[in-house]
Amino acid sequence: MSDRVIPPRLSIEEILIPAERIRHRVAELAEQIGRDYQGRDLVLVGALKGAIMFLADLSRALPIPHRLEFLQAASYGNGQSSSGEVKVADVTGDLKGYDVLLVEDIYDTGLTIRTLLERLRAKHPASLEVCTFLVKNHPHNVPVPLKYTGFHVPDLFVVGYGLDYAQHYRNLPYVGVARKAEG
Ligand code: PRP
Repeated sequence: MSDRVIPPRLSIEEILIPAERIRHRVAELAEQIGRDYQGRDLVLVGALKGAIMFLADLSRALPIPHRLEFLQAASYGNGQSSSGEVKVADVTGDLKGYDVLLVEDIYDTGLTIRTLLERLRAKHPASLEVCTFLVKNHPHNVPVPLKYTGFHVPDLFVVGYGLDYAQHYRNLPYVGVARKAEG
């Protein structure tokens, strides 16, 4: 028997944030970050895997020099809601003395960002801030400082633009509200 992951069947009930709105907002954020970090040693640290689309678009729109580094966080398994446990692999690259901007796809319970900030702080950056593409209106999230945010979304099951369901659907160019298909 094969152990390949079979793409789960989902139906997209609604396109919450179309690709064009995403492009426009990413350009705005890049302009703002470019102004704020002008003349500084900026490193964007992308949280794998969810942040890849946002990071790639943000980086290409950013008008100032910067490095890209990565770390991997995983909390969800194959389900729709957080397991409460966040596993983190070590960050690539040296961050000591650099201005670090953690780039995430979504702030949901906040546990991932909180854990990643602790991990990054231990690398002694000159400064440490967060840029998250989405902020979910979760009823019990832990507070973390968010310097840049893309969009606020309701507490629904969202996929696309990096956000997955069972490792699929990250490639959708929009953010959609999903529902598991029947049968
Ligand atoms: C998702 C998402 C965020 C995190 C947000 O990651 O990409 O990193 O959960 O949830 P939280 O605010 O409740 O902690 P996931 O663990 O699914 O890994 P992925 O990035 O590889 O999809």
